[in-house]
Amino acid sequence: MVIVLGSVNADGVMKTARLPLEGETRLDGTYAVFPGGKGANQALAAARAGAQVAFVGCVGDDALAQTALESMRSANIDLSHTRTTADAVTGYATVMVSEAGANAIIVASGANQYVYASQVPDAWLSKASTVVIQGEIPMDENRQIAVRANGAGARTVLNLAPYATPPSELLDAVDFLILNEVEVSQLAVDFGFADDVRTSARELQKRLGNAVIVTLGADGAIGFSADGDMLRIPAMPVEPVDTTGAGDAFVGSFAAALDDGFGLEVAVRRGVIAGSLACTALGAQSALPNKSQIDDIEKEGNPD
Ligand code: RIB
Repeated sequence: MVIVLGSVNADGVMKTARLPLEGETRLDGTYAVFPGGKGANQALAAARAGAQVAFVGCVGDDALAQTALESMRSANIDLSHTRTTADAVTGYATVMVSEAGANAIIVASGANQYVYASQVPDAWLSKASTVVIQGEIPMDENRQIAVRANGAGARTVLNLAPYATPPSELLDAVDFLILNEVEVSQLAVDFGFADDVRTSARELQKRLGNAVIVTLGADGAIGFSADGDMLRIPAMPVEPVDTTGAGDAFVGSFAAALDDGFGLEVAVRRGVIAGSLACTALGAQSALPNKSQIDDIEKEGNPD
């Protein structure tokens, strides 16, 4: 079982020929509202990739909550421990997407600031579970769930996005750390060094002793196993429509593969396939691939 403790938002997506400059008003926008939030995107990606998934988060007592949760409901994700608060509104993200697929995002966290590690029942944490966390809920809640999950023998996956300095107890409790190119540099600086992406990832892996994976957008991903072995997986060539949530697609699909018993290299490969395909439609969740799509592409890449 994959348990995602994390954020859920409604994404107001505005498509424009190019992202506006500071002080500029553009009149060429078209918009739609989609479910989003890194936690929800990752939960849905894991479910589409074939895992049994529970999402644990918090929404406001408002109409946007329905939008935010609807795709997870349709995918039969367990939402029994997601709560509703009267203290904040449902998280909302304004996402601007250019013709080239680039984006700029502002998140109003709202109810995501009221997500607690204690919402996850102890009975869910065991060697048979994979716990996935990201940076859109309070860091101390991530620390608490990672420590509990680690103590129960669960696999723990931390996607440090968006970046905030993590406490060492959180890093110590994590088995798989997933970062993008910017986040790996930020973590390296927090550790007191600066280097290129590959060298930084290797150094972080050595210092932390867990597996470190870096997503590289159109260049795929690199990773270092807990033993220090390096792997590099190229991206699939796609015409990007919207890169929002590509990292989340990677994380969810990666976690589903681990939960299914696959090793690091297969999990990264399946994550890269999902991340590439996720860029082919507007909206973070619109083009998340299902298990058979991932299986087929993975087989084509490994015809033995
Ligand atoms: O990673 C993409 C997500 O970031 C969007 O869905 C948006 O809600 C923000 O949380």
